[in-house]
Amino acid sequence: MKFSAIASVFAVAVAGAPTDVTPRYDVTDFIAYCSTDGGSCYYDFAVVQHANGETIPTQCNTAADSDDGALPGVSDGKCNSSRTFAVIRNEDGSLNFSVTQQITPISYTTGNHTIPADQIEKKDGAETYVGPKSFELYSS
Ligand SMILES: *[C@@H]1O[C@H](CO)[C@@H](O)[C@H](O)[C@H]1NC(C)=O
Ligand SMILES: *[C@@H]1O[C@H](CO)[C@@H](O)[C@H](O)[C@H]1NC(C)=O
Ligand SMILES: *[C@@H]1O[C@H](CO)[C@@H](O)[C@H](O)[C@H]1NC(C)=O
Repeated sequence: MKFSAIASVFAVAVAGAPTDVTPRYDVTDFIAYCSTDGGSCYYDFAVVQHANGETIPTQCNTAADSDDGALPGVSDGKCNSSRTFAVIRNEDGSLNFSVTQQITPISYTTGNHTIPADQIEKKDGAETYVGPKSFELYSS
C-alpha cells in the first residue's frame, strides 16, 4: 500500500517533467510577495545561465502594483544586465515566470517555469510565494 503510493507519486513527477531536460537558467533566492498594507508587490531573485561557467549572478527585481493583493503579471521585469523577466498570471492562480536575454538583434534565449497556485499563500489579503527559493528555467 505504502509502496504503491510512493510509486504513483514518482510516476506523476516523471510524467510532469519538461520534454527539454537541459535547463537554460538557474534561479536562486526567489522572493515574491505583496505588502499587506495594499498596493505594492515585489519580485526579487538572482539568475545565472545553466552550466556555462557564469559565476556572478544577475540580480533582478521589480515592484508592481496590485489592486487585490494578488501577485500581478509583469511584462518588463528589470535585471542588472540585458536580461529581463516576465510574469503571466493564469486563471487558476498559477504564474508563468520567464527570463529572457537578447542574443542577437533577432534572437532571444528564454527560460520558463510555472509556479503552481499551491506555492502561493494568501495571508491578511496579500499573496506571498512559499515555494522553493531555487529552481531551474527550461526552454519549453
Ligand atoms: C548585479 O549586481 C550584483 C550585486 O550587486 C553584482 O555582484 C553583479 O556584478 C551585477 N551584475 C551586473 C551584470 O552588473
Ligand atoms: C502558461 O504556461 C503553460 C505551460 O507552458 C501554458 O499552457 C499556458 O498557456 C501559459 N499561460 C499563459 C496565460 O500564457
Ligand atoms: C515562455 O515565456 C515567454 C515570455 O513570457 C512566452 O512568450 C512563451 O510563450 C513561454 N513559453 C512557454 C512554453 O510557456
